Amino acid sequence: MSVTVRAAAKINLHLGVGAPREDGFHPLDTVYQAIDLYDDLTLSVAGEDSLTVAGPPYVDVDGIPTDASNIAMRALAEVACGDAHAVRISKRVPVAGGMAGGSADGAAALLAHDRLHVLDQSDEVLLAQAARLGSDVPFSLVGGTARGRGRGEVVERIEDLGTWWWVVVPASVGLSTPEVYRHFDRLHPDAPAQPAEPTGLLAALATGEPVRLARTLHNDLEEPAIDLRPELGTLIERGEAEGALRGMVSGSGPTCVFLCAGRDEAMAVAAGLSATYDVVLPAVGPVAGAHVVHPG
Ligand code: C5P
Repeated sequence: MSVTVRAAAKINLHLGVGAPREDGFHPLDTVYQAIDLYDDLTLSVAGEDSLTVAGPPYVDVDGIPTDASNIAMRALAEVACGDAHAVRISKRVPVAGGMAGGSADGAAALLAHDRLHVLDQSDEVLLAQAARLGSDVPFSLVGGTARGRGRGEVVERIEDLGTWWWVVVPASVGLSTPEVYRHFDRLHPDAPAQPAEPTGLLAALATGEPVRLARTLHNDLEEPAIDLRPELGTLIERGEAEGALRGMVSGSGPTCVFLCAGRDEAMAVAAGLSATYDVVLPAVGPVAGAHVVHPG
């Protein structure tokens, strides 16, 4: 018997970052959106723990740990009561790309474990387990469009009836999230304790109009990410020249995302960028959080 859970990549429509807290984490005020780039995780009971990972060439499968340090195995170590498990992950979300691919796998493992063992735990219990695993893991469970506060783990759903078309351009080499946060601290030693609020963005989201949303997209980690990887600035300019309403770094990068006016425009921007960039992925959001696609 096995259970397969599908979990989506996220982008941050707004990422306000404040000065680091005493525990080293940064206070965030962020708006997440889940988009239709997914990892599938299949879980079954086995004689011993194992993890295999497969994915398309743009996913650096060899760079993903398959031991107990993998976030899916850490999730199971938190919740499993003695059983060993075989885990298979089919990855589509770029690795170390600022799209919460690891968090998606952690959320998928928690949900798959709950369903495989028919535990039927409450959302509150699963969200608390998720928050212990990482700042973005609760959002990977919730999906849709949501506001994240605290260190990102305090998640509140936002009604979002829009259909937003994106073009996603991963980089071949990832960026370390802690390194990007450290660089933010270097560039902004006087950052306010309170991160910037997404007031304008929330109003724009409610209109469903991409032109209005484009004007309010905001990412405080964009500047440090571009400072570490100047070629990201070139990519953003290029995507906008190809017709995107707005390009930005996704989360801590280096993946960049481009908001487009609609499906046709996204396909045209993707075609234009494909002339130069190897991997260009049109995507739509919002989509559901982690969910079972195949019960065993
Ligand atoms: O919570 P998560 O494991 O995803 O965080 C990875 C790293 O990113 C943290 O160890 C920290 O360096 C940085 N981080 C941060 N502030 C946040 C979230 C993450 O400084 N709100």
